Amino acid sequence: MPPLVQLENVRKVYYGRAVLNDLSLEIPEGEVFGYIGPNGAGKTTTLKILAGLVTKFEGSVRVGGNDVARDRDKAHGLIGFMPQSCGFQSWRTVQSALDSLGELSGVPAELRAKRIPALLERFRLLDARHKKVKDLSGGMTQKLGLIQALLHEPKLLVLDEPLEGLDPPSRNLLKEIIRERQQAGTTVLFSSHILSDVEDVADRVGILNNGKIATSGSIRALVTDFGLPLEIGLELSVAPGNLGYLDELGTVTQHRPDEWRIRLVDGTPSDPVVHAVIEKTLAAGGKIRKVGLVEPNLDDLFAQYIERAHAN
Ligand SMILES: Nc1ncnc2c1ncn2[C@@H]1O[C@H](COP(=O)(O)OP(=O)(O)OP(=O)(O)O)[C@@H](O)[C@H]1O
Ligand SMILES: [Mg+2]
Repeated sequence: MPPLVQLENVRKVYYGRAVLNDLSLEIPEGEVFGYIGPNGAGKTTTLKILAGLVTKFEGSVRVGGNDVARDRDKAHGLIGFMPQSCGFQSWRTVQSALDSLGELSGVPAELRAKRIPALLERFRLLDARHKKVKDLSGGMTQKLGLIQALLHEPKLLVLDEPLEGLDPPSRNLLKEIIRERQQAGTTVLFSSHILSDVEDVADRVGILNNGKIATSGSIRALVTDFGLPLEIGLELSVAPGNLGYLDELGTVTQHRPDEWRIRLVDGTPSDPVVHAVIEKTLAAGGKIRKVGLVEPNLDDLFAQYIERAHAN
């Protein structure tokens, strides 16, 4: 089966500057793909090209085998798109905005009558259905954008920073919905800067930098490939007056007010260092709350990646 999403050598230039340069990416059907990269990297531009909102570009972009430039309607019909900032007709009510967008996406009236209240209920927006769109809060508008993308139950969900601006319960709800949709066979491509959430739902992530996917894979595989340096975390309930003794064990950074990280020199086995940290901390009069090897996460991976990209 060909991948549902296929971008080949995509190049997009704004005012003489290439934002995307020879970008290639494939997403198989049923996958949840997290698209990350620094501000201005070109994530929104990529997603808009997929959604048919940016039409001038070089290269080939296909969704379900349909070229987004040549078979625009076919490709478009497979996609539910949530833009980074959603422009609704602000004078409409929530209910009527969703109804007209659903109609535009080809959802029959009887299905709209079922799905709209069900989704509003799920996002705790049912009470706001008669409010004007212009009177909604930022998070509520964000939810409206999500609902409109979900309404026609598309094969491919393209979500541009869907978690931004949502409160923690709503973020959890959205992650739950993404997992549910994946179970039902939907493919999801979403961008986000909330890396712990990306880690929670994405099967694979791609880091966009300098106009290309710099690296992609499962988070586990990236952490391993990347050879992230090992770190020992030390949380203290009472810190000794002087923590200088830690410097002999590795590079020390303060991570939180009561937590320090000791980055081991490449190849150093961690157990003896953990022991030394405990012994020396107790000898110096400190009280330990927690100590141990830190599992690298996507935040660490991304920070490392950007650090290395700048160094080169
Ligand atoms: N319509 C436009 N005209 C000119 N330049 C643009 C336009 N849209 C985007 N750009 C430029 O393209 C680059 C990529 O922007 P884009 O919005 O795709 O980044 P992003 O990765 O989504 O960033 P963020 O994380 O901040 O959302 C930026 O330098 C931006 O200024
Ligand atoms: Mg963006």
